[in-house]
Amino acid sequence: MKVTVIGTGYVGLVTGACLAEMGNHVVCLDVDEAKIRLLNDGGIPIHEPGLQDLVQRNAAAGRLQFTTDAASAVAHGTLQFIGVGTPPDEDGSADLQYVLAAARSIGQHMTDYKVIVDKSTVPVGTADKVRETVRAVLDRRGLSDLGFAVVSNPEFLKEGAAVEDCMRPDRIILGADDERAILLMRALYTPFMRNHDRLHLMDLRSAEFTKYAANAMLATRISFMNELARLAERVGADIEMVRRGIGSDPRIGTHFLYPGTGYGGSCFPKDVKALIRTGEENDVELEILRSVERVNERQKQVLVDKAVARFGANLSGRTFALWGLAFKPNTDDMREAPSRVIIAELLARGARVQAYDPIATDEARRVLQGMERLSFCANAHEALAGADALLVVTEWKEFRNPDFEFIKQSLAQPVILDGRNLYDPALMRSLGIEYQGIGRGAARAPR
Ligand SMILES: NC(=O)c1ccc[n+]([C@@H]2O[C@H](COP(=O)([O-])OP(=O)(O)OC[C@H]3O[C@@H](n4cnc5c(N)ncnc54)[C@H](O)[C@@H]3O)[C@@H](O)[C@H]2O)c1
Repeated sequence: MKVTVIGTGYVGLVTGACLAEMGNHVVCLDVDEAKIRLLNDGGIPIHEPGLQDLVQRNAAAGRLQFTTDAASAVAHGTLQFIGVGTPPDEDGSADLQYVLAAARSIGQHMTDYKVIVDKSTVPVGTADKVRETVRAVLDRRGLSDLGFAVVSNPEFLKEGAAVEDCMRPDRIILGADDERAILLMRALYTPFMRNHDRLHLMDLRSAEFTKYAANAMLATRISFMNELARLAERVGADIEMVRRGIGSDPRIGTHFLYPGTGYGGSCFPKDVKALIRTGEENDVELEILRSVERVNERQKQVLVDKAVARFGANLSGRTFALWGLAFKPNTDDMREAPSRVIIAELLARGARVQAYDPIATDEARRVLQGMERLSFCANAHEALAGADALLVVTEWKEFRNPDFEFIKQSLAQPVILDGRNLYDPALMRSLGIEYQGIGRGAARAPR
């Protein structure tokens, strides 16, 4: 099938490449000329396991093309995916300017029937706005009879496993009310669900809502555990024991129960905010989600609080080694990463920070440029040299079983503040390392 993907970011590029892998002819359109140039030169703008091979293979086969030319891109696809960003507006609502610009672009250049697929995360009712936008442009062009359908097909891929998620989706949510569009969308996705039919067909508004509900639920689980972790520390319980204890209940399950330094990334923070805003606009106070957000903001400070409790409020003259900058492992995405809050707060208190991340250092350098007393290190060991404590912020695999003797020797004092509960408090004690995790009260309580 012929597919156009508008927006070549995490979602658009991965979607385009995976659709091309199944034999579709895909044209990816972006307004970012540097990004398109890089892709046409065989480069890749983001870190995502397996993506480079997939893009290069399909580009070489002629099934995947990149352009900034809206006219030819829109002319190409019967299916027009919109995968542009929907960042938060000042009031927390999703900013639809890029989605509606893409819709206008489709309206300006289409000359035959199109299925317009909203893949970006957009508030309930956006499909109607996209439809009105396209219709208005067509009316102005004197093409009021030109047919098109708008469908909602929110994306559920996880950064760091995006290709895998896209090739083997848990579910495909399709909001649609146009028979021809449903047929085409089903045909497009059939190769991705050869074992089971994973397509959930529903009305457009329910599909749009489903995406927000999913992210809000996951964010809620994280904040719930972070809140309980605070209490566990006070009452002398170990939240890791509690996590296993409750996770083994199939009604609860094990996923997204990890306490840490708070959720970040490009989705949870903005989607929780946008859903709260949708609630306000409709006179429904989403009290749980307000608390989820508040708990998360506080949690981003948790390692700084521990550093202050240990070293005092004035941290000038102190140096901290920081392992992990990306908001989660296997990505270079720094959007809303807790590391940003932690670094800013440590620097504001006068400390030096020696940071290391296996993949996100370049991106971190870009977004954190100009910060005094912050240096980026070439490897995990270099970051430790002479530091007063090691702060573990992102749970990259290479941090999970480090050389603790080396850590001890390299640090000025053997202190680890572990924001991801990677290490065993008993082992740390036996090695003579002063250790604090998140919610690990039992490790400190008298036995
Ligand atoms: N990143 C994720 O993990 C993820 C997962 C699921 C859903 N989503 C949602 O998908 C959407 C895209 O997210 P992303 O992370 O891929 O964003 P991104 O910022 O990585 O990419 C967006 C791209 O769209 C381009 N763009 C903006 N306006 C354009 C226009 N008018 N025409 C062509 N290109 C244009 C930008 O230049 C950019 O390259 C968002 O709504 C997001 O909430 C993201």
